[in-house]
Amino acid sequence: MAQTETQFYPGMGLTTTKAPFIEVARNKGELYIQQPYELYSEENHEAWRRLYARMQDRWQRYATDKFLEGISKLCLDPNRVPRLDDVNQFLAPLTGFKAKAVTGYVPAYIFFDCLRNREFPTTITVRSLDSLDYLPEPDIFHDIAGHVPMHTDKRFADTLVRFGEAAHSAAHIVQEIKDPELQTQRIISITRALARFFWFTIEFGLMRGKNGELKVYGSGLLSSYGEIAHAIESPEVQRYPIQLEWVINQHFEIDHYQPLLFIVDSFDHLFELVDQLERWMWEGKLNNVAPGEPKMSEEDIRSFLEATVD
Ligand SMILES: [Fe+2]
Repeated sequence: MAQTETQFYPGMGLTTTKAPFIEVARNKGELYIQQPYELYSEENHEAWRRLYARMQDRWQRYATDKFLEGISKLCLDPNRVPRLDDVNQFLAPLTGFKAKAVTGYVPAYIFFDCLRNREFPTTITVRSLDSLDYLPEPDIFHDIAGHVPMHTDKRFADTLVRFGEAAHSAAHIVQEIKDPELQTQRIISITRALARFFWFTIEFGLMRGKNGELKVYGSGLLSSYGEIAHAIESPEVQRYPIQLEWVINQHFEIDHYQPLLFIVDSFDHLFELVDQLERWMWEGKLNNVAPGEPKMSEEDIRSFLEATVD
């Protein structure tokens, strides 16, 4: 969409589910867009300011050192919604990663393929002031303050690229299958395994800190004021050393605090697990993972079938 079109949406803001600019772009089938920065309202900036301010103590207490280093390297403005171009100026020289503005949900293969190319599909809308605590969908606070600081770490960034390569292998494997019914079943099973592994690591992962204490590196936790403390402190949360065979068969629900979390030793450990996941994919071990969440949409399935894999 041309930047000049933003003149049609003055003062309307870019609030989650209430942004006409995003709706129009989506209806036109646009996935990647420019961030129309002038559309952010004062309420949007205020939401960012409050979200960012109240996380400071929580990050110091619960986040992995790599995240804290990442936050300081990105030089985010505590008071204004970030410009993606500014973020990328600090980020790209470190690991080659760039945040890339999208209109909303990115079909599974396309999402992973972006990671393979060191691009992170980034939501640009901001949650409303009356829903600072919980939002089912991602917003710019989740994506930029929760995910992107981790992308400043070389090993973590390499791990995301390996996820992308694993998805590429998945597309290759399923496109070889001739029987359409079997093909769909395989896509669903392999993608479910990938999505579960991504969820329990990149989104909700815990890691052992230097002195053996538990630290948070998962972005879903890093962008949630309530859940980051709950994940570490609550006696009700089950926390176990990660086991790949468990994670790929474990369903999850997104609408409440996670009752089960997995711990990695390091980002080298996480990288090796993605390697192992890809090996298992080629061996057929992901062909029949346990049923249950997450569900794969028609769009997700199609994204694997239409992928260019050569
Ligand atoms: Fe996320």
